[in-house]
Amino acid sequence: MNILVLGSGGREHAIAWKIAASPKLGKLYVAPGNAGTREIAENVAIKADDFDAVAEFVCKAKIDMVVVGPEDPLVKGIVDYFSAKPEFKELMIIGPDKLSAQLEGSKEFAKMFMQKYGIPTAKYLSITAGNISEGEKFLESVNPPYVLKADGLAAGKGVLILDNLDEAKRELRNMLAGKFGSAGSKVVLEQYLDGIECSVFALTDGNSYVLLPEAKDYKRIGEGNTGLNTGGMGSVSPVPFYDANFARKVEERIVKPTIDGICAEGMNYRGFVFFGLMNVNGDPYVIEYNVRMGDPETESVMLRIKSDLVELLEAAAKRELAGKSVEFDSRSAATVMMVSGGYPEAYEKGKVISGLEKVKSSVCFHAGTAVSGNDVVTSGGRVIAVSSYGNNIFDALETSYSSLKNISFDKCYYRTDLGFDLK
Ligand code: AMP
Ligand code: GLY
Repeated sequence: MNILVLGSGGREHAIAWKIAASPKLGKLYVAPGNAGTREIAENVAIKADDFDAVAEFVCKAKIDMVVVGPEDPLVKGIVDYFSAKPEFKELMIIGPDKLSAQLEGSKEFAKMFMQKYGIPTAKYLSITAGNISEGEKFLESVNPPYVLKADGLAAGKGVLILDNLDEAKRELRNMLAGKFGSAGSKVVLEQYLDGIECSVFALTDGNSYVLLPEAKDYKRIGEGNTGLNTGGMGSVSPVPFYDANFARKVEERIVKPTIDGICAEGMNYRGFVFFGLMNVNGDPYVIEYNVRMGDPETESVMLRIKSDLVELLEAAAKRELAGKSVEFDSRSAATVMMVSGGYPEAYEKGKVISGLEKVKSSVCFHAGTAVSGNDVVTSGGRVIAVSSYGNNIFDALETSYSSLKNISFDKCYYRTDLGFDLK
């Protein structure tokens, strides 16, 4: 089977790495990919949201399956684009259609879906420029901190959590006035949920699902979960507080009703569902849905999947997931992200990365790298994800921390305290 993975980050490198281990694989391509995916696949210089160029390549390279890494092409309708063309009837494409992708693309859509299917989530109110005063009343009625979310995709930056009521009211107006562009022309106000987060992943064919290993990511730039939000500074899997009892609640209260809802709505959803959850005193609540895998959770999750990923993806695409299960590696996994100094604010690119070849005990998934002459250079904020196995997550973290000492580039930064809140 010839497979094309769309995207260029650590998540896509990790997915490609797992696909590359499948006996079912013929040829593997990544578009556009990075310096790391080049080692295990052929990189194709096509942007993931240039659908015409993707379609042309799918024909030329006789691609059987397209795995969509990031949310953008899904929200823009890549699945609908292919399903509307009879010549792609046999093509397997992993991801939801445009309507289902609204579960990530619109916070209000996701909230209405959760309400309809009785899925536990924070109380909310959706506000547009026409009902600001209702929004202000809502803010007055809840306890701080105040949670304000731009309805649309805002590259992970559209959520504000504020302690002060006047500031929250001011920011509500700023958002509606265009602070996050059109993504904020509608704002979802939410009750704050106090707890600890984790990420749960399912693969669905629209009727049935299988669960993948759960993970926890570290979003803040600074030690002790302080400072600005990032795309993710690392991850661990499994999650210590995700015990059998919590897992059962997640499956019964959240995963099953979500997949039942997808089925009842007749959504064309054959792909990954990412449940961003908050554990509030032992009870799970949905913070957000994503319609793709998480990054940097995927880098840890792929290490823990023992089953053949291609076989599972094929079953999802063909609506044959019923009765399938995923075998987990009994070892733990952890990922530490090496980032460019200054990230998530301004940072420099083009720094030469050295020492990658010296790493023997971990897998280096490339996030933001490119090839320049004979060098591998930095090309993004998040640069290299160093992922390792261990007897427990702390062991795995220690191995990643020891491996990354081999790798260097100018102004490199990473958090040294991952896992601190799980001890
Ligand atoms: P989202 O983009 O919806 O995942 O929100 C980004 C981050 O904001 C989440 O990962 C949480 O850390 C935090 N967050 C979002 N909604 C809430 C909420 N209702 N209560 C507490 N924290 C939240
Ligand atoms: N790690 C969170 C995300 O991928 O959205």
